[in-house]
Amino acid sequence: MTPDYASPHPVVSNQRRVVLALLHALRPHLRGDRSLPTRIESLIKADRRFGSRDRRLYRELLYTAVRYLPWIEGRTDDEAIGLIGHLAAELPATHGFRAAFGAGPLPDGLDPDELLPAWLRAECPAAFEPAVRTALCARAPLWLRLQVDDPAPVAAEFASLGWTYTPSPLRPDAWAVDGDRDLTRTDAFAHGLIEVQDLGSQLILDTLALEPGGHWLDACAGAGGKTLQLARLLGPAGRVTAHDVRPGALAELEVRAHRAGLRSIVISRTAPTGLFDGVLVDAPCSGTGTWRRSPHLKWNTTPEHVARSARLQTELLRRFSERVHPGGRLIYATCSLCRSENEAIVAAFLADRPEFTLEPPAQTFGFPPGPHGLAILPGRHDTDGFFVASMRRA
Ligand SMILES: C[S@@+](CC[C@H](N)C(=O)[O-])C[C@H]1O[C@@H](n2cnc3c(N)ncnc32)[C@H](O)[C@@H]1O
Repeated sequence: MTPDYASPHPVVSNQRRVVLALLHALRPHLRGDRSLPTRIESLIKADRRFGSRDRRLYRELLYTAVRYLPWIEGRTDDEAIGLIGHLAAELPATHGFRAAFGAGPLPDGLDPDELLPAWLRAECPAAFEPAVRTALCARAPLWLRLQVDDPAPVAAEFASLGWTYTPSPLRPDAWAVDGDRDLTRTDAFAHGLIEVQDLGSQLILDTLALEPGGHWLDACAGAGGKTLQLARLLGPAGRVTAHDVRPGALAELEVRAHRAGLRSIVISRTAPTGLFDGVLVDAPCSGTGTWRRSPHLKWNTTPEHVARSARLQTELLRRFSERVHPGGRLIYATCSLCRSENEAIVAAFLADRPEFTLEPPAQTFGFPPGPHGLAILPGRHDTDGFFVASMRRA
């Protein structure tokens, strides 16, 4: 039966009531809680009556409220529901709710600049350009990276599931999968044929024009998003030593490497020693480039967080640069938009260590390379925001 949206159907009326109750429960935490996603998950999972489609709906509606928080706060229930319905992404799970509550126009006087914290302007003026700001505030697409040369089995499985996708014109191995899909439940994932990885993250290594072979150190490997890609690019003749201070992340990396059949990855749980042909420092950062995936961070990241990250980045870049072989490469990357975590870190490092020189990126994807590295901004290619600088030791 088609719901009569003129007088909302009981199903969407109930959804309205639930989302208002969830928002009410979250209200004290919306601006201050850096673990908000965990709180949202436990709140949604606490209600045993919700099926997976309900959870998808409420997750999306709550994330919409967080993304557009300054526009939602202080509104009446009707206004808040109308805005959330209008601004939520169109997904199978949100379709009825959007049709029932989001059909009206947006109210006058909404200021898009309010959707980013004002302090970001000094760190990244480009984030306030309409295309970049819109992308940084929208729902992130789901990108996968193919880990096999032949995509046919993955395409066949997706076709059997009725899933659609679009390969990136920048790298055919990167597919944007439509809808709200759980890739981890596919055979392709179980057999290591695909990994979830934002396109921007994939482009970082494409700026380096890597040759097969060589021994690299991935010094801040985390759970190995870039380690796996690096190992594939270096091929069977190459080797990657992956290090991180989080043993749990390295354990996950080990599972992923095994799933992908990548035997050239060696895990180093202790501080790496020796010299490498290349060192990747994918540094811990404020994560300002990933705000469309973690919108709560917009409201509780401060200039002090950025300054603290910059101090750690300076230290890690200096420390791991010691591991670069003469003639070898040092790559510094972040998922931050902030100058003080990106260009300023590289500029200070190069001033201090004249034996390292900056090398131009092999590809720029339409972004102007700066004097200290390349910023990949959200918007142009539907990516998160990243920064990469490639240096070579004399
Ligand atoms: C941006 S994340 C890495 C993401 C990962 N390279 C990927 O592509 O998925 C930064 C990583 O730096 C790690 N880290 C923080 N301090 C570190 C240190 N002193 N030495 C090595 N890694 C560190 C963090 O645990 C985190 O996993």
